[in-house]
Amino acid sequence: MKLDEIKLIELPKIEDARGNLSFIQAPDTLPFELKRTYWIYDVAGGNSREGHAFRSQEEVIVALSGSFDVVLDDGVNRRRYHLCRSYYGLYVPRMIWREMDNFSTNSVALVLSSTCYDEADYITDYAIFQNEKISIS
Ligand code: TYD
Repeated sequence: MKLDEIKLIELPKIEDARGNLSFIQAPDTLPFELKRTYWIYDVAGGNSREGHAFRSQEEVIVALSGSFDVVLDDGVNRRRYHLCRSYYGLYVPRMIWREMDNFSTNSVALVLSSTCYDEADYITDYAIFQNEKISIS
C-alpha cells in the first residue's frame, strides 16, 4: 500500500436553502463494505491522537464538523491532509501509518471502517510497521 492509493473522495452534496446534505453509500461512494462506524469528538483544540496503522482495516475519514489534519505515511513517504469540509472523505487503505492532529475545538471526525473492532489489527509501533511493510513488499 502506497500513498498513491489514498483518495480524497468528493461526496454528494445536496445544496438547499434549509441546509446542505451529504451522504455515503456503498458501493458507489464507499470503496468497501461498511462494518463499523465510530467518531472522535471532544478533542481539546490543537490536540493530537497517537499514530497507528491497521493490518487489514480500510477506512474513510470525514471532518463532519470543524477541522483537523490526517498525516499518512506508507513507510517511505508522508503526506498531510487538512480536512475541513463535511463533503470530502479521505480513503485510507490498510497498512498506512496514520496520525491525526491539529484538531479545532468542537471538531468531529467520523471514521467509516471495513472491519469490526479488533485490537490485534493495530500496529502502534512505527518500527514494527516499517518491518511489516518490508516483509509484505
Ligand atoms: P483508538 O483506535 O486507539 O483511538 P484513535 O484512533 O483515536 O487512536 O481507540 C481508543 C480506545 O477505544 C481503545 O481502547 C479501543 C477503544 N475502541 C473500541 O472499543 N472500539 C472501536 O471501534 C474503537 C475505534 C476504539
